[in-house]
Amino acid sequence: MPLRICFIASEVTPLAKTGGLADVAGALAKYLHAAGHDIRLFMPLYGQVDRSKLEMWPVAFLQDVPLRLRAHALRFSVHTARLPGATTMIYLIDCPQLFERPTIYSNAPDEHLRFIALTHAALLCCQRMGFTPQILHCNDWHTALAPLLLKTIFAWDKLFRDTRSLLTLHNLGYQGIFGAAHAVDTGLEAALAQLDYAETSKGLVNPLKEGILHADHISTVSPTYAREIQTPEYGWSLDGVLRGRAGDLSGILNGVDYEDWDPRHDRFLPKHYGANQLGIKSQLKQMLQERLGLQAEEQIPLIGMVSRMTLQKGFDLLFDALPALLEAREFSLAVLGNGDARYEDFFAELAHRWPHRVAFHRGYSDELSHWIEAGSDLFLMPSLYEPCGLNQMYSLRYGTVPIVRRTGGLADSVQHFDPTTRAGTGIVFNDYNDEGVSWAINTALDLYPQKALWRRLVQNAMAQDFSWKRQVGEYEALYERMLAAPRHAGA
Ligand code: ADP
Ligand code: GLC
Repeated sequence: MPLRICFIASEVTPLAKTGGLADVAGALAKYLHAAGHDIRLFMPLYGQVDRSKLEMWPVAFLQDVPLRLRAHALRFSVHTARLPGATTMIYLIDCPQLFERPTIYSNAPDEHLRFIALTHAALLCCQRMGFTPQILHCNDWHTALAPLLLKTIFAWDKLFRDTRSLLTLHNLGYQGIFGAAHAVDTGLEAALAQLDYAETSKGLVNPLKEGILHADHISTVSPTYAREIQTPEYGWSLDGVLRGRAGDLSGILNGVDYEDWDPRHDRFLPKHYGANQLGIKSQLKQMLQERLGLQAEEQIPLIGMVSRMTLQKGFDLLFDALPALLEAREFSLAVLGNGDARYEDFFAELAHRWPHRVAFHRGYSDELSHWIEAGSDLFLMPSLYEPCGLNQMYSLRYGTVPIVRRTGGLADSVQHFDPTTRAGTGIVFNDYNDEGVSWAINTALDLYPQKALWRRLVQNAMAQDFSWKRQVGEYEALYERMLAAPRHAGA
């Protein structure tokens, strides 16, 4: 049955992206729309959105709309555009005062206000469009206040009478906490006391926690992460509330948009290959090695990394392990990323010390990320935690063997290769320590010269299918279950 879905996200590929949330929001909206659903997708019109490649139309009845959040008298306008590469329309919330900033996210004191405004704006748009969403799907802390707003200040509107809210947790490490002195910015007005007292009594508002407490259902982006976040180790202090909602918590593995990520037609590559054309992959490897100034030899394995450089991604494990391995073994590294200075400095130092073996590109580049996926032999993701992770799934499709730690979505998407049975798709290690990651890299480097085994591993990897076409069915089934269930009574 076609559903009416209001989907709100702080980033959407290809318009604004800092990480996997954008890829998931863009692809999920695209495939839900393709499956026949009426999906209204909302995102801020950031200064970063490349307007030269986007045909935007102002929505006539959504211009200069007043939005008062206590002391903040905001005004926003809405433009609509076709999401590039899809038939889905996106509604862009234009409020330059909030969204024309040097970066998509900031540490500005009004960071919370920017996304509260997005959330209010999306709900106001539904009202003005007369759109009755059956599902309100919000994502991460930025839009996690939506379920509470729906139950309180928007509750008078019969438009939302039957709406069910779903909060998808892409990353528990970011909760959007702000000072309770700004609680009035939520626009909750008389319902302010509904905010979680355990937080407000400490002088804080925790938007993600509010979402967990008030959403009709909570999902996260892999079954393993859904279990992990209910433990203190992975719960970031929210494991208790998550256990309290265990009956309404699901894990749905992310999918891959193979229209964007497939070596058979990748728009960034000059040559394309499938599982039986690995010679072309070798040519791309050589081109990448030359471009990055790395020694260009086929028998030297190339390990790629593309990542936000944060604690989550496991870089701390590499400080001792990588220099020791570079001393002991023959391989090279191609690294793309930016983030915390200590990680950036570490890779810059490695590249300085081994100029023809380590290439580090500090920054963000869609184009180079596709090249690294295609041209590398191995892809390293030693994450401390990983709600889902997309690059390991991209790597599988590119025949670039993932080396991952057994956590979250990495555990759910990569099977350790067993040379005896010749089954498995990558190298998987358990322990978050130096020995664990070194063992994994050594195991991969030992396998690489065993041509027949290696070829089998690469082909196993390339045969995996994580397409959104399939995963979208899981969301449809969840939406249907939510609609059949009563609304969540509240915290
Ligand atoms: P996360 O969302 O935690 O960053 P994911 O693996 O889910 O991790 O998704 C990361 C996405 O962001 C991938 O599409 C990856 O290619 C992309 N990405 C991360 N860092 C960079 C970068 N420096 N340049 C280009 N793309 C990047
Ligand atoms: C988050 C997670 C990542 C996940 C992505 C998309 O940023 O860190 O693991 O793949 O969201 O859901």
